[in-house]
Amino acid sequence: MEQNRGTWGSNIGFLLAAIGSAVGLGNIWGFPYKMGKSGGFTFLLVYLLLAVFVGFVIMMGELAMGRKTGKGTIGAYHTLSKKFKWVGWLAVFSPFVIMSFYSVLGAYCIEYLALNLSNLAFAGAEVMTGADLFVAMLTNPFGAWVFTVLFMVICYLINRGGVSGGIEKFNNVGMPALFVMLVIIIIRSLTLPGAVEGLKFMFVPGYAVEAGFIEEAPKFLTVLATAGGQMFFSLSLAMGAMITYGSYLKKEENLIKNSAIIVVADTIVATMAGLAVIPAAVATYGPSATLSGPKLLFITLQDVFHSMGAIGPLFGVIFYLLVLIAAISSAISLIEVISTYFMDRAAEKGKQGNRPKIVFWVCIAIMVEASIVAIDGLGANGFWVPFQNLFQSIGLSETGIIGEFNDCWLDFMDFLSEGLAMPLGALLMSLMVGWEIKPKTLLDEIHQGGSSKLDLFFSICIKYIVPLGMILILVGQIDTFLYLGIF
Ligand code: PFF
Repeated sequence: MEQNRGTWGSNIGFLLAAIGSAVGLGNIWGFPYKMGKSGGFTFLLVYLLLAVFVGFVIMMGELAMGRKTGKGTIGAYHTLSKKFKWVGWLAVFSPFVIMSFYSVLGAYCIEYLALNLSNLAFAGAEVMTGADLFVAMLTNPFGAWVFTVLFMVICYLINRGGVSGGIEKFNNVGMPALFVMLVIIIIRSLTLPGAVEGLKFMFVPGYAVEAGFIEEAPKFLTVLATAGGQMFFSLSLAMGAMITYGSYLKKEENLIKNSAIIVVADTIVATMAGLAVIPAAVATYGPSATLSGPKLLFITLQDVFHSMGAIGPLFGVIFYLLVLIAAISSAISLIEVISTYFMDRAAEKGKQGNRPKIVFWVCIAIMVEASIVAIDGLGANGFWVPFQNLFQSIGLSETGIIGEFNDCWLDFMDFLSEGLAMPLGALLMSLMVGWEIKPKTLLDEIHQGGSSKLDLFFSICIKYIVPLGMILILVGQIDTFLYLGIF
């Protein structure tokens, strides 16, 4: 029996949801710093080239895979391919693992939002420094766990409403609100004395080294791998998110235009996020500022707001609310990848899946793994130590192989998902489309029977450029995470 899976209420609703998935923590703490560190405009140029030749092509391919099969990730791979049907599992594994830390980071945003709200309410009271606050938060595992539960409850309430009744509704309000808040923070950031140094860090090639932000410029291959990895994560590719969202798209919607809009919007927001955070951080701390990762969000920026005096907590509230919205809109797309799989499975058995129940159990499963990351507190509570010892006992640490991810569970989970599963998934997807089922299968879906000048571009990219790029990114990711020193 064919079940009614539902569709997006409107194309703009779909676009806001897809942009919501793409715009997340990666845009705020990843892109601006990587851009500055890797040569400003040079990085932007490499990023844009990769976005056009790889990101845009995979985006179109994933949306087409979803819409053609009318199924989530696992169902889509199963329907389309004999040799690659197991790849769908990889693309469900990654969102599950990403959620283990994304939910905890979302929880930290709620904690900081609450904190700035209380600073606003009790103006004049003694406030802790960003660093002290961060340590206090990390070393309170129970608090982090409770806020992670809260974050998951919010996501649950949205996802249980369904694609148009929950996800679309949230993004219809959340995305415009995020945009307005971002503009407010940008204006504040750019009008701080010394903000221009931050702009130079972001846009002037070589300035990061010249002004002492970093010691030496990264090599070109490192830049390429960094930009590629960042682009994939930022565009929510190879995670099943776009296949899943595409599976709820109506046949009359234009996949080429939609893909282009998502890629362009995500890149614009990433650059805007840079303008919001980097100049403010640099204006306050100069080259010694921590400009990336959790420390940028929860130490540097908290101090920046604090240094603004009485008005600071207001900007703090706006900022952490915007980051929270960005985190929620991405998290709900990851949850939807897994939930859609179970909904599709029920449909295959001729049943109408019970969405609230499915979403509930998906969130519980995520909560189990997220508990480890929450309690670990970015390594502050030593949960990773036994595994670190394990690695050492087999001699890995002596060669430096475990590198960065010996610090904490979050890094390890990030390595598994963003570092390995994501580029591997994209590589396999491009091999499947390019060489097994052939690009025409998806092009027919994209054009609904017609053809366009883009066909040759799509075919060449998916057959040759994407696989090559993916191998490079995969090696680059392994290299950075494991400190192998290949590049
Ligand atoms: N794109 C999100 C970010 O930049 O933070 C992360 C993400 C969301 C990755 C959803 C993958 C995904 F399916």
